[in-house]
Amino acid sequence: MTRRSRPDLKGRLHTQVLNADAPGAVERAAAILREGGLVAFPTETVYGLGADGFNPEAVARIFAAKGRPADNPLILHVTGADMLAGVARDLPASARPLMDAFWPGPLTLVLPRGPAVPAAVAAGRDTVAVRAPAHPVALALIRAVGRPLAAPSANRSGRPSPTRAEDVLEDLDGRIDAVLDGGPTGIGVESTVVDLTASPPVLLRPGGVPAEALAAALPGLGRAEAAAGSRVGAGPAPAPGMRYEHYAPRARVILFEGPAGRVAEAVRRRAEALAHEGRRVAVLATEETAGAYHALGSAVAVLGSRSDPGGMGRRLFAALRDLDRGGAEVILAEGVPEAGLGEAIMDRLRRAAREVIRV
Ligand code: TXA
Ligand code: MG
Repeated sequence: MTRRSRPDLKGRLHTQVLNADAPGAVERAAAILREGGLVAFPTETVYGLGADGFNPEAVARIFAAKGRPADNPLILHVTGADMLAGVARDLPASARPLMDAFWPGPLTLVLPRGPAVPAAVAAGRDTVAVRAPAHPVALALIRAVGRPLAAPSANRSGRPSPTRAEDVLEDLDGRIDAVLDGGPTGIGVESTVVDLTASPPVLLRPGGVPAEALAAALPGLGRAEAAAGSRVGAGPAPAPGMRYEHYAPRARVILFEGPAGRVAEAVRRRAEALAHEGRRVAVLATEETAGAYHALGSAVAVLGSRSDPGGMGRRLFAALRDLDRGGAEVILAEGVPEAGLGEAIMDRLRRAAREVIRV
C-alpha cells in the first residue's frame, strides 16, 4: 500500500517525478490519487493537475495548490461516455453525437451536473464540465483509479499552461504529491469548451477542436461574447474562469496583430526602441518573419510556420516559459492567422498580453 507523501516541517510536500513508461508508475500514481493526493499527468492538450473527482477534500487541495479562485469550476476527466453515471444527467440530444465524434479528444462538454459530483468541482454550479482525454497515460490513470479525475491545467493560477513535466515542477514543485512525466504534450493548447446546457449551445473557450470542425456536428453553435479572447474585466466572461488573468509569463507580453509584413516591421521597431531604453526584449516570431529580427541581438523564439497552426500550438506555452527563463522583461509576440487551431492560439495570446497593437 502506497502512502501519500507527508508534508515536511514547512508544510511542503515532496513531489515525486514518475516516468510514465516505468513499470508500476501509473499504478503508483493511481494509489496516491485514491488516497486523496494530487498527481499531475499528461493529456493530449496540456498537463492536468489530477485529484479524485468524487473526493471533496482532494478537490479542495487542487484549488489550494494552484492558488485558484474557488468560483472557477474544474473539468472531470473520464475514459469515455460509459463513465458518466452519477457525473451528468439528462444528457442534451447533441451530447452523444459529439462524444461519438470527438471523444477521446480535446472537447470538453458542459452538462447538467450529476449527483455524485461534489459542489467544489462545479464551483457550486448545477452544471459540470466533462471530457475524455486522448492520451494513453491519462486514460490508463483514470482507469486505474476507477473514478473520474478532476483536473485543471497543472500551472499556478494565471500562468501559461504546462506542456512538459518540467513546467509543472516550475510552478508546483513541493505543492503536489507527484507528476507523471509522459514527455511533451501533442496539441499544446487546452480543450475546446462547449456549453450544451445553453440553448443553442455556446462555445465558451476555443481550443484543440477547431470551431470549424464542430460546426458540422453542432449547427447553430453560438459564441460567448468574449470567447475570441479579451482581457481581464473586459466585457462579459464566457467561461467562469476566463475573467481572471491567464496564460501570462512573468515578462510583459505585447501582441502585434495585422498583416505579417507590417507586424514584423512594427515588432522590429518596438524591439529597437525598448533595447535602447535598456530593456531585455525577446520576440515570439513565426518562421516566415523571423529573419526580420536577426540584427536585433534579442532572443527570438520561433513558433513555426503560419501555415502550420498545429506546430505553433504545440510550442506556444513552452516558448513563453522558455523566454521567461531566459530573463526576458518584455516579449513582443506576432499574431498568427486565426484559421483552425489559430483561433485558440490567438485567444491565449490576447489573454496573455498586457497590450495589443493593431498595425
Ligand atoms: O485541455 C484541457 O481542458 C486541460 C486538460 C488538463 O484537460 N484542462 C484545462 O482545465 O484547461 P482548466 O481548469 O485550466 O480550464 C477549464 C475551463 C475553465 O475556463 C473553466 O472555467 C471552464 O473550463 N469550466 C469548467 N467547468 C465549467 C462549467 N461547469 N461551466 C462552464 N465552464 C466551466
Ligand atoms: Mg487553466
